[in-house]
Formats: sequence, structure tokens, C-alpha cells
Amino acid sequence: MKQFLSMSSMIVIALHSIVYAKVLPIPPLASYTVQNGVKVFDMNIHASTTQLFTGINTRTYGVNRSILGETIRIHNGDQVKINWSNRLSEPTTMHGHGMHVPAIMDGGPKNKIQPNTTWQASYTVNQSASTNWYHPHLMGKTAEHVYMGLAGMIIVDDDNSDTIGLPKTYGVDDIPLIIQDKRFTSSKQIDYSPSRMEIMRGYTSSTMLVNGAITPYVNVKDSWIRFRVLNASNSSLYDLVFSDSRSFKQIATDGGLLEKPVTLNHLLLTPGERAEILVNFSGDLGSSIVLKENRQNIDMMNININSASAGVNVIPSKLNTLVRYPLSKAKRTRNFVLNRIGRGPNGHMAINGKTMNINRIDEVVPINSVEIWNITNSMGMEHNFHIHATHFQIIERDGSSANVSANEKGYKDVVHVPPFSSVKVIVKMEDYIDSKNGYMYHCHFLEHEDDGMMGQFTVVQNPNNPVVKWAPIQMDDILTFVPIPL
Ligand code: C2O
Ligand code: CU
Ligand code: CU
Repeated sequence: MKQFLSMSSMIVIALHSIVYAKVLPIPPLASYTVQNGVKVFDMNIHASTTQLFTGINTRTYGVNRSILGETIRIHNGDQVKINWSNRLSEPTTMHGHGMHVPAIMDGGPKNKIQPNTTWQASYTVNQSASTNWYHPHLMGKTAEHVYMGLAGMIIVDDDNSDTIGLPKTYGVDDIPLIIQDKRFTSSKQIDYSPSRMEIMRGYTSSTMLVNGAITPYVNVKDSWIRFRVLNASNSSLYDLVFSDSRSFKQIATDGGLLEKPVTLNHLLLTPGERAEILVNFSGDLGSSIVLKENRQNIDMMNININSASAGVNVIPSKLNTLVRYPLSKAKRTRNFVLNRIGRGPNGHMAINGKTMNINRIDEVVPINSVEIWNITNSMGMEHNFHIHATHFQIIERDGSSANVSANEKGYKDVVHVPPFSSVKVIVKMEDYIDSKNGYMYHCHFLEHEDDGMMGQFTVVQNPNNPVVKWAPIQMDDILTFVPIPL
């Protein structure tokens, strides 16, 4: 008995031995200039080093910083020009994930940015308040570039989110959490070297990073704190919980605010998904709570509630009004089966039996037409499904609306499709007709995407709805970048 006691106290010591030595980095808000009423951002994609481990320089990629990227914060209705300058020694692209923009401004695989050139994404922000993100999208290279550190947030505000009474002081009570996991070599360099099996099963690690730091701490007020959580991992599912199992409120999904807060005590996010949550720390002054990943039981970040200052103490009960389309409004159904073609080492991840081909348009979608996209995971492994340019609503899981949980009933652009399951979503393409340039849909497990689990669609004129809201932007908006030595 005595021996058992000392064993268990040793275990307790081991469990509490994490040192939260680093303050949570908050990616700064990207600065901009206003030129003729247009907000102009200069975003430099470059290689650098970051001290992820004390005293060791780990090679990383970042955007205006050494790892991850500065946060772009813009408002619905803003005209923006984002100059993405590639100072890497190889091509990349930069996609605005969740951004509702014309296909040629989407930063997909075709918007290749050669080294020492700049590609300009130019558009008018045309969507509700939401937490979005940017990351490379070069075919076959997306996974590696994201893994090296290329990911950042794009926060969109609107008149509703400005005035509704949510915490909104960036980095203080409105805190971005970009969550990833990474493997390291014995010399503590980022190790991206998936085997064929890991391309299938996912390239994962138990070393987790929040905003590019391993086990950081964050100091907060004893009030409601808003976290904007992004799963920016290559292929990990994160199930987030707090160490005291406290409940919290989810207020937003990928595409914006929910109608009302949804109470949860854990939050599952698959790669590419975002959630905004509110956590009530009033009454917790002087205590510390750990944010954990529950599937692997990893302590990710320590939250110190250490200042008693006036924060947000009452949260709104109504957040948003969402337009919903019933299944009966749908004009057609498209089926997408996530599968694998070929055998053994010649096999590839595919959709409907086809691997990605940049020169093939897989689906032609009429504008303003309500459609059901029926996505089936035919495999015994995890997948999800992301659609560019739009936000959809999840209508059914495995044939029933009762299987759709309350916190999935907002606008989404990534949906989890568990092994051997299916999900029906309602899609409506509302803008940006372009019969030549496509948008992507794909599994957001980046190894699967790079292996071919991706397709392409265009949005075309619908004779029944001839209204076009958008005038095409000329391709000569694309600038040439004068190389600047790093
Ligand atoms: Cu997050 Cu096609 O992208
Ligand atoms: Cu996307
Ligand atoms: Cu997948």
C-alpha cells in the first residue's frame, strides 16, 4: 500500500511537470496603408528561424514574422489589395480559406507565386463577420508549406459583430489560437517526411503548438474571454477540453456567428475548421486552467486568470440571423465519394474515383441555385470536406437531421466526414461567375489533398437568374515584385 502511494504520487508529479515558460505569442495585426480608399497589405512569405526550443534555432517559414503569419483584420465592405510576396526559393500560393472572393483571387493552385514575385489578391470583402485563415495551396506542396509554418488568420468584422457586445479587443479578450502539431528531428528541426502509410493515416505528432509555441501560457482577466480557435494541423483531429471540464459557449462556426451560443464541454475540430468560443473566467481570479487536447490527453496551454479588470461580464443571447434553405428547395444533388484508387504503393486518395487534375473541371455549378452536396466517406479512416468560395449548411448526417449537432448548425466551409459515414450539405453559389477559372473542393487532411483528394468546380450563369454582381478583375492587376534581399 505504501509503495502504491509513492508510485501514484510520482505519477502525479510527472503529470504536473510541464513548465509553461513561454507567453502565448499573439500574431500582430498586419498593418496596411489606405490608397484611394483601398486597404493595401504587404505580406512577405519567407524562410526564417524560430526558437521553439530554448537556445535552438529551428528553420521555419512565416509571413511578416518567423513562424505563422500576421493577422489580417478587415471589415465587410472594405476594398482590399493583399500583396503576397514570395521570398522563398520555390513557388507557393496563398489561399484565403473561408474568403468569399472571385476564383482568380482565391489563391488556389493556379495562382502560383514564383520566387521573388508578388501576387495581388484584390477584392471587396463580401461576407459576414468570421474567422478565416490563409495558407499555401500549391499542388503537392500544400502540406509541407503549412507544416513549415505558413498559416495565418483573416478576421472579418461586420456591423453586427462590432455592436453586439462580444469581447473584441484583439489579443486581450479576443484571442487567436492557431493549433498545430509537429514532428522534430533529433537536432530539433521540423521533420516533414511522411511515408506512404502516413500519407494515408495522417502525419501527426504529440508535440502541439499554439500560435507557434510549445506549451505556452496566457494571462487573462476574470471575465468572458473569446478564443478564435483554428485547427491548422495537417491531419489531426483535436478535441479541446479544459482541465476542470468546465463548459463554455461556442458562438461561431467557420462562416460566422451562430444564431445563439451553444453550450459545450468539449470541442472537436478537424483540419481547417474554426470555432469561436466564449469562456467565463469570472470568479476564477488567481487560478490557472489548462487547455487540453482530449484524444491524446495532451496539455497544450496554461491559462492564468490573474487580473481583475472590467471585461465583458454579460454576453448576448442572440448573435445572428441565418438564412436557411430547406432540402425541398434544392434543384439537384451532387454526390462526392471519398475513396482511394489503385492498390498498394500505386494507390492515391481520390474523389469519385478521380485524383485531382488541374486541367479538368469536375463540376459546373449554376449561380444562385440551391443544391445538395452529398459527401460519403467510403473508407475506414477520417476525412473531411472543404468547399472554396462559399459557406454551406449541414442538413443531415447518415440520413438524419437529428445527427447534426447544435454547434454545426451555422455556416460551415469544412465538414467532418467520419469513417463510413455520409453528410448532406446545402450549397448555394451566390457570386463571381467565371466559366474558366475554378474553385477547389477537397479533403482538408493535407496529405490526402496533396495525394489527389481534390476536385475543381466553376460557377456559371444560370439562365433563370441572370443577375451578375461582380465585374471581373483584370489579370494585369498582378504585379511584378522587385526582389529585396532578406
Ligand atoms: Cu484551406 Cu482549399 O483550403
Ligand atoms: Cu479554402
Ligand atoms: Cu482525407
